Amino acid sequence: MEDGTSADTGVDNRPPILVRPSRDSDVDAMLAIYRRHIRGGVEADVIDTGAPEPDDLRDRRKNMRNRRLPHVVATSGDAVVGYAYAVLFRKRPAYRYTAKHSIYVHHEHISRGIGGILLQALIDTCAAAGFRQMIGYIDADNSASLALHQRFGFTKVAHLPAVAWRYGRWSDSVMVQRVLGPGSTEPPPPFTSR
Ligand SMILES: CC(C)(COP(=O)(O)OP(=O)(O)OC[C@H]1O[C@@H](n2cnc3c(N)ncnc32)[C@H](O)[C@@H]1OP(=O)(O)O)[C@@H](O)C(=O)NCCC(=O)NCCS
Repeated sequence: MEDGTSADTGVDNRPPILVRPSRDSDVDAMLAIYRRHIRGGVEADVIDTGAPEPDDLRDRRKNMRNRRLPHVVATSGDAVVGYAYAVLFRKRPAYRYTAKHSIYVHHEHISRGIGGILLQALIDTCAAAGFRQMIGYIDADNSASLALHQRFGFTKVAHLPAVAWRYGRWSDSVMVQRVLGPGSTEPPPPFTSR
């Protein structure tokens, strides 16, 4: 994806939303968005072993660039208002045509269409890179994310009961999946670096 891919939500007078590959200088803003969403409902003394530190995030971005997996931010003026990325669904080589993605939108910019802009960017980049399936995990009560993914052609393929503990109760997750390009109708192209 080239810098400056743009889309204007056209719903207010704020600067238009632009999507571009993330940069090192975006890392602090991405971490702030991540922490705000991921800690919700989890007791303060629980250590988040999966929380990316700034250096981890920088390394992850570089690895993704090498593998042609997208790691993008949405900006509005100078502000990073969301970010999204895809990783390999599983690291074992047989799974190299399946990507798994995540999207995070700044809490003050929810429902502006930014999630949709980011998801479209991920779909386009993963399809262009030759991935054939895209998978997401969504909290079962996350109506906004479920609606968003449904609009972009994802279907629910699994319901994972009671896999999370937050807000003092067990919560389910949903696995959603979408075909990219020719999907399973033909074999993948010859093996390259993936
Ligand atoms: C899920 C998330 C990425 C959506 O971002 P967003 O910028 O608000 O998304 P959009 O504005 O493009 O679209 C949101 C959709 O949810 C709908 N929606 C919003 N709140 C809703 C609600 N409470 N119930 C049902 N639908 C809702 C909107 O109408 C819109 O539907 P549409 O796509 O059919 O028009 C954002 O809420 C977020 O970052 N959440 C926290 C992290 C997260 O859950 N990430 C997703 C994990 S894959």
